[in-house]
Amino acid sequence: MIRKIKELQPIIWDNPLKKSAKEVLEGFSLKFEDIEDAENRLQRFAPLLYKYFPETEDGIIESPFVELPAMKTALEHTYSKKIKGRLYGKCDNQLKIAGSIKARGGIYEVLKFAETIALENQWITEEDNYEVLGEETYRKRFSRYKIAVGSTGNLGLSIGIISATLGFEVTVHMSRDAKQWKKDLLREKGARVVEYQEDYGKAVEEGRKACMGDEKAHFIDDENSKDLFLGYSVAALRLKKDLERNKISVDQKHPLRVYLPCGVGGAPGGIAFGLKTIFKDFVQCYFVEPTHAPCMILGLVTGKKEKLHIKDYGIDNITEADGLAVGKPSKMVSDLSETLIDGGYTIEDETLLLLLKTLYQREKVKIEPSAAAGLLGPLLWEDTKETTHIAWLTGGDLIPEKEFEKLLQ
Ligand SMILES: Cc1ncc(COP(=O)(O)O)c(C=O)c1O
Repeated sequence: MIRKIKELQPIIWDNPLKKSAKEVLEGFSLKFEDIEDAENRLQRFAPLLYKYFPETEDGIIESPFVELPAMKTALEHTYSKKIKGRLYGKCDNQLKIAGSIKARGGIYEVLKFAETIALENQWITEEDNYEVLGEETYRKRFSRYKIAVGSTGNLGLSIGIISATLGFEVTVHMSRDAKQWKKDLLREKGARVVEYQEDYGKAVEEGRKACMGDEKAHFIDDENSKDLFLGYSVAALRLKKDLERNKISVDQKHPLRVYLPCGVGGAPGGIAFGLKTIFKDFVQCYFVEPTHAPCMILGLVTGKKEKLHIKDYGIDNITEADGLAVGKPSKMVSDLSETLIDGGYTIEDETLLLLLKTLYQREKVKIEPSAAAGLLGPLLWEDTKETTHIAWLTGGDLIPEKEFEKLLQ
């Protein structure tokens, strides 16, 4: 397996160390109550979010859940293989405000930071309507605090947009992979953008350094943050409702398979944690990475986890899937995933682009290359039961038309 990964061949990996969800989750520091706590916090902020972002409709940032029958047929034809069960997409590409899965964790952590400041200073109580925090007095008070983050693009977008909206002084440290349009958009929204010629690890390191020793600065740490992780995990509560609404059972006879594009691991890790907490072993979670940036899977296969950098294996971390261009996985997520997730696979850039184009042609769903990674999953494992396959479509709505045209071409 390691040889194949080094040679940049696509691999399919079943996790040999996987244990039952119950056993793993009993030993994990976060529990179902923590996910509920995060959900309640998001509810408290709904009036404020609605004030600034009426497009959220009710101040809750959530994405559509749709069946993709034409995509399923196209996959079956292209790869000459039948898929047992139905294929759905969880359309985080359409998440409001930031157009990607990063809107879940990133916005949540900034809101939590704002709430902590407001409660500690007794500006509000938990029972108040949080909409008041949008008043100019509070924006001025928030402007005395700084927020920083390292990003390949999408996390920066979500944190930059919400922080600037609330009045914080926000700096986004961006790796070489970040697309120019994402940097331009952030500057337009009022964030400071610092650019690096190195990869994501460097952007995170510099962001962390810039905040050290400054009491009023908060660094959002994608490699270790529990708040980001919990923000992502709320997606599981929301997906449960989607499934109920669509009368989709999840049990022994009807397993759920979820294919999650993975960069540093925070987003797929948080969602897998939430799903396993709710559906236990009836859900199977698979992480997907580009062949040129397979840090999470390689870290788990070798057992080196966050101590590994893919460059030590001669892998260049250069991929069209900018959101997944990460060389070193999150420690927290590697430790949890080692026994929690069911497996994963790697995918070539050519395949990502083909999937992106097919999805657009067949279903009129617009995604970015990173988000296409999960669409191959339903073809890779043999199913004997009627399975519900969910490709997590993690981003894409904000891509300018011109850029999207280029991707299609
Ligand atoms: C579109 C998209 N999908 C998936 C991911 C993966 O998330 P994580 O880096 O938390 O694993 C990212 C990360 O930026 C992303 O932008």
